[in-house]
Amino acid sequence: MLGYILVAIVAYLLGNISTSYIIAKRIAGIDIRTQGSGNAGSTNVLRTLGKKAGLFTFLGDVLKGALAVLVACIVSKFMPIDTLTAKYVAVLGVVAGHNWPVFLGFRGGKGVATSLGAMLAVHPVAALTCFAVFGVVVLFTKYVSLGSVIGIASSPFIVYLMGKKEAVPVTIFLALSVIYTHRENLKRVFNGTERKIGEKKN
Ligand code: G3P
Repeated sequence: MLGYILVAIVAYLLGNISTSYIIAKRIAGIDIRTQGSGNAGSTNVLRTLGKKAGLFTFLGDVLKGALAVLVACIVSKFMPIDTLTAKYVAVLGVVAGHNWPVFLGFRGGKGVATSLGAMLAVHPVAALTCFAVFGVVVLFTKYVSLGSVIGIASSPFIVYLMGKKEAVPVTIFLALSVIYTHRENLKRVFNGTERKIGEKKN
């Protein structure tokens, strides 16, 4: 049990490392949460500080998600815990830490890139399938938020169809949290005021 708690704490702390917050502070001296959509995530960095900063933010958040799973693997080598369960604990911890970081007053991001990175490290084919769903939705609608929600909300179905039933609970958490963090985006999508990719308006 101690091993799972250790994984959860380390993953949560890793999630607290907000790439968007750090990049925006370093290159522009701003708190990204006061700009654009107010979200501490790569889409908001893209619209506020451009493509390069947006890409680095995305990669940083993906990487920390994957890193949390790596921590789970390492801990499970030294402590008597099940490796796969530990990986799922890491997914939950890192996404929770990204979305609700104690060190940033619980105002973090929406967990998309971090969920992707963590799930890539656990079930790469399923994660890439969700990413493809995201890509198709964004291509046709130009709404990153809608792509994020549909991409991640499809993950419980995708893992189930791939025979990875043990991953269903963790993906249900990811799906519910992405819907929750995007609740304002979804309202805007439905009333037609959501920003499309490439739009800079506030
Ligand atoms: O990854 C977050 C994205 O889905 C929406 O971001 O800034 O448009 O709220 P934003």
